[in-house]
Amino acid sequence: MLPHRVKRWFYLLTGPLMAINGRLYRSFRAPRSGFLKVHLGPGQKKYLDGWLNLDANMFTAKCDVWVDLRNALPFHEATVDVMYSHHVIEHLPDLSLHFSEVRRCLKPGGIYRVGGPNGDSAIHKFMDHDLAWFSDYPDNRKSIGGRFENFIFCRKEHLTCLTFSYLHELMTNAGFVNIKLCLPVKETHYPNLIEKTVLEKEWESDFDWPHTLIVEAVKPSN
Ligand SMILES: C[S@@+](CC[C@H](N)C(=O)[O-])C[C@H]1O[C@@H](n2cnc3c(N)ncnc32)[C@H](O)[C@@H]1O
Repeated sequence: MLPHRVKRWFYLLTGPLMAINGRLYRSFRAPRSGFLKVHLGPGQKKYLDGWLNLDANMFTAKCDVWVDLRNALPFHEATVDVMYSHHVIEHLPDLSLHFSEVRRCLKPGGIYRVGGPNGDSAIHKFMDHDLAWFSDYPDNRKSIGGRFENFIFCRKEHLTCLTFSYLHELMTNAGFVNIKLCLPVKETHYPNLIEKTVLEKEWESDFDWPHTLIVEAVKPSN
């Protein structure tokens, strides 16, 4: 994992370029019609064929559009059918802005499937003193508190502890409806929009207390 300060420098230096790239993409290339599926933050291994993949990492990630997701999304209003992010939003500083941007870009009836480190499971496993549930990534920690901190904040990479009630509140405030937890994880309420190949790429080893909190929500039709 890159040291936090290297990433800070990366965003400092490339942030203005990504902002320009996002604006240019939105002005000249963003689709205005047709069926559009957008994947935010594929990283190194999760590029999805058939989706438009957006990421800031131009070195090791594979993406179609190079943008900083802290900015406005590079799409016109009501042009995206489904949006998907997995272990990305915990890196963003302003989740209210993020959810309102996703809502703006989705078509009425459009879906957002969003996942990240599961704060609810982590709190439960912390109370249970279940050391084995937590890995010792990114730092080698022996204590339950150390492992909990590792999981939630990941050496300062993560900015928010994601729990279902908090995501529900943020998404409700942004104007989403039908905000539902996906349990079991790796399942979807919208199999016609989220293909099996997407779900298969979602890593999980504990299906009772999943490491990833997955939520799906809908932009209302009117
Ligand atoms: C932990 S990785 C997750 C990758 C993949 N989605 C997965 O589930 O394995 C987070 C990804 O989000 C991207 N990301 C984080 N903050 C970002 C930002 N502000 N703008 C664009 N991409 C960002 C990173 O570059 C990285 O590819």
